Amino acid sequence: TNDAILAKYGELGRDIREILITEDQIRQKVLELGERISQDYADKNPVLVGVLKGVLFLMADLLRVITIPSEVDFLAVASYSAEARQRGMVRLIKDLEIPIDGRHVLFVEDVIDTGLTLGYLLRSLRDRNPASLEVCVLFNKPAHRLIDIPLKYKGFDLPDRFVVGYGLDYNEKYRNLPFIGVLKPDVLKGKT
Ligand code: XMP
Ligand code: MG
Repeated sequence: TNDAILAKYGELGRDIREILITEDQIRQKVLELGERISQDYADKNPVLVGVLKGVLFLMADLLRVITIPSEVDFLAVASYSAEARQRGMVRLIKDLEIPIDGRHVLFVEDVIDTGLTLGYLLRSLRDRNPASLEVCVLFNKPAHRLIDIPLKYKGFDLPDRFVVGYGLDYNEKYRNLPFIGVLKPDVLKGKT
């Protein structure tokens, strides 16, 4: 039961109000995405691009179920002010190491909320003339979307709640939980 799973995580589990998506559901969905990607990108040697650190679990699990040759690379962005975000500004603090011109690029993202971050990063990658550029997102939060971004591979639609686990953190905590959970209100303080 979910209670037993939360109990296993001790103090971390006690902060979780509700498990929204279980470890099994995530595993099954990632397997399905990996199978589709393996079919669609056969003979294309795609470059999978992710943003650190939230994508760590998804990228590792996705790579393990992809059965074709592929490469992986990461970007890192600085946390930004609310005003900068409104203008779609993102500061890159680590760029890709693999040149992507002429390559088939699959942008792998853990969660999309407003879409501002992803929109900015996709424009930056498109400027480098990849052969193709598609998006794979595991957790989609459509409630606050400000930018329309075509999501070729999509895992779950999530309600408008702040979630943690499977790489997603609150103040760097809870990334190690293998499921997606909602924090108790007294833990969240301000986040919704
Ligand atoms: P935008 O709004 O630009 O934001 O699509 C995407 C980034 O916001 C963070 N984010 C979350 N992080 N739980 C988290 O731990 C959440 O529920 C959540 N919603 C958005 C995340 O960094 C993502 O890359
Ligand atoms: Mg992220």
